[in-house]
Amino acid sequence: MTVSDIRKAFLHFFREKGHAILPSASLIPENDPTTLFTGSGMQPMVPYLLGQTHPAGDRLADAQKCFRAQDIDEIGDNRHTTFFEMLGNWSLGSYFKNEQIKWMFDFLTETIGLDPNRLYVTVFRGNDAIGIPRDTDSVALWQGVFGSVGMEAKDVDFAERDGMQGGRIFYYDEQKNWWSRSGTPDKMPVGEPGGPDTEMFWDFGLELTLHEDSPYRDEPCHVNCDCGRFMEIGNNVFMEYQKTKNGFEKLAQKNVDFGGGLERLAAAKQNDPDVFHTDVFKPIIQLLEQLSGVTYKDQSRSFRIIADHIRAATFIIGDPRGVTPSNVGQGYLVRRLLRRAIREGRRLGIMDPFTHQVAEVVIGEFGSAYSELEERFGSIVSELKKEEEKFGKTLEKGIKELEKMLKAGSITGEQAFILFSTYGFPLELTEEIVKEKGMSVDHAVFEAEFRKHQDVSRTASAGIFKGGLADHSIETTRLHTATHLLHRALKNVLGEHVEQRGSNITPERLRFDFSHPNKVTPQQIKQVEDIINEVIKQDVPVRFEEMTVEEAKQRGAIGLFEEKYGEKIKVYFIGNDTSDFSKEICGGPHVTHTGELGLFKIQKEEAVSAGIRRIKATLDKGE
Ligand code: SER
Repeated sequence: MTVSDIRKAFLHFFREKGHAILPSASLIPENDPTTLFTGSGMQPMVPYLLGQTHPAGDRLADAQKCFRAQDIDEIGDNRHTTFFEMLGNWSLGSYFKNEQIKWMFDFLTETIGLDPNRLYVTVFRGNDAIGIPRDTDSVALWQGVFGSVGMEAKDVDFAERDGMQGGRIFYYDEQKNWWSRSGTPDKMPVGEPGGPDTEMFWDFGLELTLHEDSPYRDEPCHVNCDCGRFMEIGNNVFMEYQKTKNGFEKLAQKNVDFGGGLERLAAAKQNDPDVFHTDVFKPIIQLLEQLSGVTYKDQSRSFRIIADHIRAATFIIGDPRGVTPSNVGQGYLVRRLLRRAIREGRRLGIMDPFTHQVAEVVIGEFGSAYSELEERFGSIVSELKKEEEKFGKTLEKGIKELEKMLKAGSITGEQAFILFSTYGFPLELTEEIVKEKGMSVDHAVFEAEFRKHQDVSRTASAGIFKGGLADHSIETTRLHTATHLLHRALKNVLGEHVEQRGSNITPERLRFDFSHPNKVTPQQIKQVEDIINEVIKQDVPVRFEEMTVEEAKQRGAIGLFEEKYGEKIKVYFIGNDTSDFSKEICGGPHVTHTGELGLFKIQKEEAVSAGIRRIKATLDKGE
């Protein structure tokens, strides 16, 4: 079974069980200032887990694009990736433990065909201090399903020193068997939903613990240890609690949130613990072997970093709400991914630009499941080329700068950070060079500088993505309609690559952020203004129709399509009966005729970050 076969089998399995299949939400969360990226399938579901009605029903399943920036430094082993697809199924108060545990067992053992003798599970031990009981219900259900294939499933309280103790089901505390977006119960803010979970593990075999270089040879093995023998392949969260001021209360509905890493399931299926051996990574590894003349076997860490990072960057740049490399927010992560990948490439001896070639293979592998990648093929490739060229130049400059610093005798943590932030020099690279001269870099100072910079980036990105209307006054409404005209006119003048990246409208002015690689020239600004003022002069009607996303797409509407599954959405049309100048997905409000707008004037055009421009414009009624 390929990765794609498993994805299809999962969605099919849950469709048969009455689930609506949802498209993946964007990797860049909307209206969630707490996080830069979507890191689990559950994140976009939060309002529905809390009780809001989902338009597609109370049984949902999907394959969600996820990115976990905090994992970036772990990349290089055989199981971690920053980007991954999480298979998910949800019960929004529909079914609970009975169905979920039975279905998961059937899915893993029958649909995927995994040997139940190599499956192990963990459950929540319970904690009186927070009033959450031991999950004996799940234990009984697991014993039932294992029993149905003639297996005795002994449950044991996990105790480090005793290892497996002949158990099949292990109780762990909230460090391991509790899930919420913020982690353990004590870390959850008031209002946050969470609950105990039961996780499933695949056993790759005892030889992984016992081989001669294993640091774990003499330790008792257990399913959650790091020896490499076991891999978590899925997590059923029984999300029935909410944190309150006084501890935990039951939510109005009992939810199920299952998440399973697609490549990890594939790894279990092929019984090879290296996720980079799965079919989606094979052509990437092959290309890197060709380009470098080195084998994956000899340099697996570098290969994994490159393959993971370029795949992640491709998905982030190619997202419907995609971002390009920059020094702030999400863009900073993309830059970091690419620069690490390029540096590892150089370490393997790949000197010519190669990231775009890897991206082409990634798009080939994933384009049929994620059409946004195919649609953005051109811009992904050109962004990668640009970034690689830029980094090549910065590396050269940085080396000169570093040499100057070294001549002065030493290099401080602050200087190492300047090399990093200004010249893109990763700390390890600086260290390597400095070490040759018998010197070292102060990590603590570097880290402190790094954290300061991260906080600044987060704040900046929250600013960029905060959008919308300040109020619903007539002035703001007029500027809102003008924003639609601007969006369309920019696409007409600069090209279809222009996409909205944020907007903020007050009664005084509109502000519109959009993707475009260069400065907009005065001539182009004039053209945009003329087009808009012509539409205003014609006094054409503004109207909306409600339709499905599919229909909106067919009719050529622009705007963000995702997360609207099953619902009717509004599309605003600006134009006369024979042709519409603008068609855009939007909730309103708008004026009824463009004649109400007055004279449109662009006051300012500037860069917000690499690849993102900002326009401020006004309407003048008293001409
Ligand atoms: N939310 C859980 C996780 O991310 C299961 O989907 O592991």
